[in-house]
Amino acid sequence: MANKIQLTNNYPIISESDKIYERALKVQKPVTQTLAKGPGQFTKGVAPKYLVKGKGSHVWDADGNEFIDFNAAIGPVSLGYAYPVVNEAIRRQLEDGITFSLMHPLEVELAELVQEVIPNAEAVKIAKTGADVCSAAIRVARAFTGRDKVFCCGYHGWHDWYIGITSRNAGIPEAIQDMTYTFEYNDIESIKAALDETVAALILEPFIFEAPKPGFLQELAKVCKANGTLLIFDEMWTGFRIALGGAQEYFNVKADLAVFSKACANGMPIALLTGRADVMELFNNEVFSYTTFGGEALSLAACIATINELRDENVPQYLNDKGALLKDGYNQLSKVFGMDQYTKCIGFNCRTMVTFTPQAGNGLELKTLMQQEMIKRGVLWAGFHNMCYSHTSQDIAYTLSAYHEVLPIVKEAILSGDVKSYLKGEVLEAVFRKVSNYNIKPKAVTEA
Ligand SMILES: Cc1ncc(COP(=O)(O)O)c(C=O)c1O
Repeated sequence: MANKIQLTNNYPIISESDKIYERALKVQKPVTQTLAKGPGQFTKGVAPKYLVKGKGSHVWDADGNEFIDFNAAIGPVSLGYAYPVVNEAIRRQLEDGITFSLMHPLEVELAELVQEVIPNAEAVKIAKTGADVCSAAIRVARAFTGRDKVFCCGYHGWHDWYIGITSRNAGIPEAIQDMTYTFEYNDIESIKAALDETVAALILEPFIFEAPKPGFLQELAKVCKANGTLLIFDEMWTGFRIALGGAQEYFNVKADLAVFSKACANGMPIALLTGRADVMELFNNEVFSYTTFGGEALSLAACIATINELRDENVPQYLNDKGALLKDGYNQLSKVFGMDQYTKCIGFNCRTMVTFTPQAGNGLELKTLMQQEMIKRGVLWAGFHNMCYSHTSQDIAYTLSAYHEVLPIVKEAILSGDVKSYLKGEVLEAVFRKVSNYNIKPKAVTEA
């Protein structure tokens, strides 16, 4: 029988998942369309590979096992799976059609709504994916400034200008790789030293897990302005979560351009670019950024319904409150079990992450063990607590009770010095995401 969420569960039967995966291996290259959902992030032999249903904060895999989900589909699920208000908006629109031969009024309605809630939205552009709007922002920044160079910090999607500087840069000409540089988050002095008159744009996630130092984002805005460089906030994760108006609202700072996706439509594919009217104006003629499905109406309807619900229910506050219970609860348990030198939950409450210190041992092995034990207990765990509005108090209490059982197992494994011997499946792969300074070329170097 399929596993339910309960503390005495056995490891779930995943034979149906594995069967589908065998078929996938024969026909798909790669097997996953989103790396973070792929087999490298869920321990082979223990974790399911395919989900077929979600309701609220719970999901069901291909074998019928039920889990509490803390991945939020890697960000989009801000309200919950199959959330009634959003589903109803999609259903209503479906009756009238999906994609049309002229523009759709929902495009205007959405842009007006976004203008109300996003601080820098003098103008709004609608697109399909996070990479779409990141690349559109970089292109328009280059056109506006007449400069080529880009500074970045974090992950910004699969397009050439960004992915060219990572280790997965096959197929990208060197000339493109040479135009993007990284900087160290929170290090304003190194950014000041590196910025020069060739830098078109500086793009960053306003925060990932580390908080910005007081004044860092404001100072960044000042420094960019003084240098004639456009500041772009990548708010894929912060947008509509940390506050309805994202990090710009939360930290009271404006970027020249900001990009959003994920949480804004509760799972439907849509992305938003907001920014200064004088910059965005270039999209009317000079800068080309159009796509067939840009005005697809199911996603527009879902996005409007989602933003309204996020606002009406003050969802960011809910994510903060519920996320705090989980984060603080984890850290308390870690202390109670004498493990605070080994593991900690960090980040802003709406999206936190469990970390292991080097002292605890191999981080990937430890993460694998914790995932194995949490999955056994009905929590689809990948190291993160991506909170959504459907996470209930019971979900939180249950998850903490699972941690209460799992942390001593992890401690025992750490103390044994052989975490690997506790694993039933394969060790997870490192997440492909470099966020630190690995390619900065300060002024002195670029001029050399
Ligand atoms: C911060 C950030 N920027 C950009 C992207 C790219 O978005 P997409 O995968 O929708 O193209 C992601 C995706 O995870 C992201 O986390």
